Amino acid sequence: MGRMTFVELFLCFSAGALMVHAEDPYHFFEWNVTYGTIAPLGVPQQGILINGQFPGPKINCTSNNNIVVNVFNNLDEPFLLTWNGVQHRKNSWQDGTLGTMCPILPGKNFTYHFQVKDQIGSFYYFPTTGLHKASGAIGGLQVHSRDLIPVPFDNPADEYFLLLGDWYNKGHKSLKKQLDSGRSIGRPDGIHINGKSGKVSDKASEPLYTVESGKTYRCRVCNVGMRTSVNFRLQGHTLKLVEMEGSHTVQNVYDSLDLHVGQCLSVLVTANQVPKDYYFVVSSRFAQHPLSSVAIIRYLNGNGPASPELPLSPPDNTEGIAWSINQFRSFRWNLTASAARPNPQGSYHYGQINITRTIKLANSRSYVDGKLRFGLNGVSHVDSETPLKLAEYFGASDKVFKYDIIKDEPPQDNTKLILAPNVLNATFRNFVEIIFENHERTIQTYHLDGYSFFAVAIEPGRWSPEKRKNYNLLDAVSRHNIQVYPNSWAAVMTTLDNAGMWSLRSEMWERVYLGQQLYFSVLSPARSLRDEYNLPDNTPLCGIVPGLPLPPPYTA
Ligand SMILES: *[C@@H]1O[C@H](CO)[C@@H](O)[C@H](O)[C@H]1NC(C)=O
Ligand SMILES: *[C@@H]1O[C@H](CO)[C@@H](O)[C@H](O)[C@H]1NC(C)=O
Ligand SMILES: *[C@@H]1O[C@H](CO)[C@@H](O)[C@H](O)[C@H]1NC(C)=O
Ligand SMILES: *[C@@H]1O[C@H](CO)[C@@H](O)[C@H](O)[C@H]1NC(C)=O
Ligand SMILES: *[C@@H]1O[C@H](CO)[C@@H](O)[C@H](O)[C@H]1NC(C)=O
Ligand SMILES: *[C@@H]1O[C@H](CO)[C@@H](O)[C@H](O)[C@H]1NC(C)=O
Repeated sequence: MGRMTFVELFLCFSAGALMVHAEDPYHFFEWNVTYGTIAPLGVPQQGILINGQFPGPKINCTSNNNIVVNVFNNLDEPFLLTWNGVQHRKNSWQDGTLGTMCPILPGKNFTYHFQVKDQIGSFYYFPTTGLHKASGAIGGLQVHSRDLIPVPFDNPADEYFLLLGDWYNKGHKSLKKQLDSGRSIGRPDGIHINGKSGKVSDKASEPLYTVESGKTYRCRVCNVGMRTSVNFRLQGHTLKLVEMEGSHTVQNVYDSLDLHVGQCLSVLVTANQVPKDYYFVVSSRFAQHPLSSVAIIRYLNGNGPASPELPLSPPDNTEGIAWSINQFRSFRWNLTASAARPNPQGSYHYGQINITRTIKLANSRSYVDGKLRFGLNGVSHVDSETPLKLAEYFGASDKVFKYDIIKDEPPQDNTKLILAPNVLNATFRNFVEIIFENHERTIQTYHLDGYSFFAVAIEPGRWSPEKRKNYNLLDAVSRHNIQVYPNSWAAVMTTLDNAGMWSLRSEMWERVYLGQQLYFSVLSPARSLRDEYNLPDNTPLCGIVPGLPLPPPYTA
């Protein structure tokens, strides 16, 4: 190899990396991101569309498929998409957050290329730049099991995707202006279901979906909202939970399900009632001002409108929190269902692995120079002009950020916030326990990119090491998002076996924009292609890295 030029080496290894995937099918997409008028709550406003649509096009694929999406930014602001829950193994280069990538500038395009690897399940994509998430560019992404891998339920008659969440009638620019001036964005105006909202009194409107008597359907449901937890239910029908954020679950039957911001799940619904219309109901949970929306599920050849009497949501008081925590505890991983990958995240026997590091994170809300900010353990993240991943890779991290300003324990006074890029130096392959503490009066939800974690416990009160004996160390669901109730804690565990720079964040976008996020820097000391792909050729460079010498590529 010694005689190859640097460029030959680079090409050689890029080609090598591609050859590994050559047998896996490709799906190509061209997406044009533009402004356009939408009215999710009936009030026309400027939305962000993909190929003219809101919600955006659905990506339908199978484990190990390659997804190639050429995104043309026709907005007047920099833009990025992330693929929530898609693990991007070895590839944080294209994770779509400002800590990993330069944004796509107005008038420019960028081609994401990632492999969904051994994942299955229901996910969604959304924009991470500014407050774009409040205006659209959100869509579903479903990953089917490969043919040879059995799925633990019969093939449904059809599959329906439901993206739902709270909505603001103000556009992203005015919401952002509010945050930049130091104020909160306040309460949302309503709830939408696939970009529409409905009330019981509405004159017979178009059905959301149509079903045939006797058939069973898979509904993939994601909460894509800005901040509001919801409960959903279908009049007269039960919901059989089968999948949650990429894991097949024990198939319990529910009358209604809570779904927190950023979470996705699949339920089976059997059309076994009198053929007519039924309301699908979504209502806010634990919100000061309750919001709800309905949509019609219509039986083919059915006869009659939906009953105006809606099934009730569980209460929003302390009992309602207890109800919700109990429901969380009923979610179990189906250990006998074959997973796409036999051994996800290191081990089925995660309960027997010794914890190498405990990271306890407490959220806070505070004012800095009179302006609202949010933080984790006293640090409020600010994005740098140079993406953290690129700064690190080009050996220029010291000019952009400092590792470990954040500590593994919350400080005494968590409300004193330091504003800085928030990067935690994590050790490759460590088995970590992350405790989320919520000392506020509102519910929180957290998400980790690049990984799924075992969601082992949620309890009211304060965490202490003795609480570990209450963990579910057998069949906790492996997922990427967890809610934390007011004055409660939640614990998750994962093996940091995916090298890269990974975002851990609140899923509430006001909080993310104002600093409630951090990055795990997981470096493989080997600089090996087995652990991380090389910097993709089409990576745009920005900030201080253009012109810096390109580091030698990783080797086999
Ligand atoms: C994208 O949409 C804009 C505005 O409608 C249009 O001018 C442009 O031609 C489109 N570009 C592509 C690549 O489709
Ligand atoms: C989605 O993809 C699966 C296989 O990958 C295929 O069987 C199914 O028909 C596709 N569905 C749609 C709606 O395209
Ligand atoms: C932009 O789109 C063009 C035309 O499809 C494509 O050839 C090019 O590779 C894209 N650029 C990037 C950075 O992905
Ligand atoms: C778990 O999956 C297995 C294998 O597909 C299936 O037979 C079983 O019914 C599932 N168990 C539960 C409790 O859902
Ligand atoms: C875990 O730690 C215990 C006690 O420190 C030790 O005895 C055991 O060998 C460790 N197990 C593994 C798998 O490392
Ligand atoms: C990160 O932690 C590892 C030990 O896990 C240490 O060797 C390394 O020097 C640390 N890096 C920085 C930049 O602090």
